[in-house]
Amino acid sequence: MTIQSIGVLGAGQMGAGIAHVAAVAGLDVRVADADRARAQQGIDGIAKRLQRLVDKERMTPAARDGALARLVAVDGIADFKDCDFVVEAVSENEALKRSLFEQLDAACKPEAILATNTSSIPITRIAAVTRRPAQVIGMHFMNPVPVMKLIEVIRGIATSDETTAATVALAERLGKVTVTARDMPGFIINRVLMPMINEAVYALYEGIGTVEDIDTGMKLGTNQPMGPLTLADFIGLDTCLAIMNVLHTGMGDTKYRPCPLLQQYVDAGWLGRKSGRGFYTYGADGR
Ligand code: CAA
Repeated sequence: MTIQSIGVLGAGQMGAGIAHVAAVAGLDVRVADADRARAQQGIDGIAKRLQRLVDKERMTPAARDGALARLVAVDGIADFKDCDFVVEAVSENEALKRSLFEQLDAACKPEAILATNTSSIPITRIAAVTRRPAQVIGMHFMNPVPVMKLIEVIRGIATSDETTAATVALAERLGKVTVTARDMPGFIINRVLMPMINEAVYALYEGIGTVEDIDTGMKLGTNQPMGPLTLADFIGLDTCLAIMNVLHTGMGDTKYRPCPLLQQYVDAGWLGRKSGRGFYTYGADGR
C-alpha cells in the first residue's frame, strides 16, 4: 500500500512533532485532538518552528509553505476515514488509548495501519480492542521529534510482517532510523534509559552527589547531551515514574522499583520542565 495521507491523533508536544516531520516529508497530514481548536494550536506551534528554520536559512519559504499547506486540523477521528496510516500520540493512559483505538478501528478504512506512539503500554493489549490486530503497531518517536533520529518500532504479538515493513518504510521517509523491539515492558529504549534515570535519582536520594554533580558527571563523563536529571525534567517526572511502574509490575523484579524521591516529587506536583519545577526550576520560556 502506498502511504500518502496520515492522521495524527493528539496535537501535544509529541503529536505536533510527528505532524511536523510528516508534513515536511511531503505527506498529507490530518491532525485531531479533543477538538479542532486544540488541533489548530498544535499546527500553529509547528508554523512557528518552521519559521525559525526559515530564519536560520535551514528551510526555504517555499518548503515551509508546502508543509503548512499539507497540515489540516480536523474535528475528530471520523475525519481520518480516508487516511492510509494513523499515529496516535495522546497521553500515556491505557484506558484512553484502548477507547481511542476502538473508535479508530470503526472509523478508518479496513486497509489502514493504526500505530501508537506509546512509550511503554503493551501494543498487544491496544491491538486486542480492534478487529485488525495484524495492522496495529508501536511507533515510538523520541522527543524532540524533529531533532531525534530514532523511531523504535514495536511489534505486538499479532502484528504482521507487512505492517512492520510499511511502518519501517514510512519511518525512513520521515528521515528516521528504526530499531525493532519485541512487545516487552519498556521495549528497548525505556528498558535501558529509565533504570539509568531512576538510578540517578537514587544517587541524589542517598546523598552521593548534588543534582549538578550527578548531571555534570554523566554529561561530561559519559558524553550525554543532557545529564540524567535534566533529561528526566525534560521527559516529565510523572512519565518517568509511570514507565518505572510499568517495568516494576511487568518484570516483577525489585531492581526496577521507582526511587521514593521520584514518587515524592510527582506527589508534590514537581513534574519537571512542564510544571516549572523538577530537579531544576524553569522560567516561562522553559529555561
Ligand atoms: N523542537 C524542534 N527542534 C528543537 C527542539 C524542539 N523541541 N529543541 C531543540 N531543537 C533544535 C534546536 O532548534 C537546535 O537546532 P539547530 O541546531 O538547527 O539550531 C538543535 O535542536 C539544538 O538545540 P539547542 O542548541 O537549543 O540545545 P542542545 O544543543 O542542548 O540540544 C536537545 C537540545 C536536542 C534536546 C539535546 O539536549 C538532546 O539531544 N537531549 C537529549 C534528548 C533525548 O534524549 N531525548 C529522548 C528522550 S526519551 C524519549 O523521548 C522516549 C521516551 O519514551 C521517554
